[in-house]
Amino acid sequence: MTNRENFGSKLGAVLAAAGSAVGLGNIWRFPIETGRNGGAAFIIVYILCILLIGLPVMLSEFMIGRHTQANTARAYQKLAPNTQWKWVGRLGVFSAFFIMCYYCVVAGWTIEYAMLAITNQFAGKTANDFPKIFNEFAANPWMPIIWLIAFVVMTHFVIVKGVTKGIERWSKILMPLLFGLVVLLVVCAVTSPGAKEGIEFMLKPDFSKITGKTVLSAMGQAFYSLSLGMGCLCTYASYFDKKTSLGKTALQVASIDTMIALMAGFIIFPAASTAGYHLAPEDVGASLLFITLPNVFQQAFSSLPILGYIFSVMFYLLVILAALTSMISLHEVVTSYMSEEFKWTRKRAAITETIVCILLGCICSLSFGVLNDVRLFDMTIFDLFDWTSSNIFLPIGGMFISLFAGWYLDKQIFRDEITNYGLSSAPYFKALIFLLRYIVPLAIIAIIVNQLGIVSLL
Ligand code: PFF
Repeated sequence: MTNRENFGSKLGAVLAAAGSAVGLGNIWRFPIETGRNGGAAFIIVYILCILLIGLPVMLSEFMIGRHTQANTARAYQKLAPNTQWKWVGRLGVFSAFFIMCYYCVVAGWTIEYAMLAITNQFAGKTANDFPKIFNEFAANPWMPIIWLIAFVVMTHFVIVKGVTKGIERWSKILMPLLFGLVVLLVVCAVTSPGAKEGIEFMLKPDFSKITGKTVLSAMGQAFYSLSLGMGCLCTYASYFDKKTSLGKTALQVASIDTMIALMAGFIIFPAASTAGYHLAPEDVGASLLFITLPNVFQQAFSSLPILGYIFSVMFYLLVILAALTSMISLHEVVTSYMSEEFKWTRKRAAITETIVCILLGCICSLSFGVLNDVRLFDMTIFDLFDWTSSNIFLPIGGMFISLFAGWYLDKQIFRDEITNYGLSSAPYFKALIFLLRYIVPLAIIAIIVNQLGIVSLL
């Protein structure tokens, strides 16, 4: 544990954390939530959630990680020895592992779709063909598993290289590529002939759609999108050097994440309106990415098929990059935990994590085919991993992080970390503590109660 690495540069630290945040959530959930919930009105609510809930929790995770320079489970033990707070860190490691097991399945699908796009398999297909292509592929026992193994192995090789030579180096390569692709796709989409309707839809606020439920979905989305609540950012912050400004870094990561989510909207809505397709509330998640969008891209550029081809290839490469950088961060949470707690080499910890993740990933993958009948709480295995981690573990983790930082921890430690021991000022400190003590926990309780359907709140 003595030879812990640090990120070699501030840029590397920001890009790695932003890489964790920017993921499938930005592309397959944010645009459609915006579509469902009143366009720009939802965006305003979402940005408020980022500012009032996301940023305080992110700052708390950064503070805990950087102060303790340890994996997320050890971090709580260091700050609160001989207490039960260690379970917050352990829950984080567990959640990261849980998310990884289903995230790698979808990540694997993105490789298949990038391949289909590259080999021009979408050409000439109609709206009726795409559900069949996807359902047959997902139910096939072999291909999805091969791709998920490929994806986890790619992640593995980045992780074994270490923090600077692996995570930081690859974040510095993958994130600029991701930005470049997003910008090109936005330019292509907004200049397409029928883009105006889609752009107007994103920009026109419809406040009548804002209900209590909308606010809860915006909060849940902000949480998931910023990778909060499970020690991911805490683990990355344990590699920040003492000069990194936590406030600035948090603001940069949140801004990048929100910008990419908005840009995903400016890719998807203009392309859909050009194709004459009205995105429906069911066009969410896998159905949006793998059934609706390949069709939309096909139809939107039907007069210039080469553009449709380039657009589809760039889009699925973008999704691969987004998923890869998030997977890397998930892998790191568990690898750093196992190597530091069990005193294993990084390689041994990473291999163990990779193998177990592949095994559970295969089970999640098979739940679209041969294991489809296996249901727990009325959910397939895949849905169970997805639902429990996003709706239960992350919010519970986030709530305890805010209670820990707001109530338990010595304020001086928090202030010292945020001001880099007095080198900068933090005029927002009192407001931050207020949010962490009252607003964040109450908001998260509302999310959990609503998700569990204990009380139909709204
Ligand atoms: N933030 C990622 C996304 O938007 O897809 C998902 C995620 C990654 C959640 C890492 C949590 C995490 F620790």
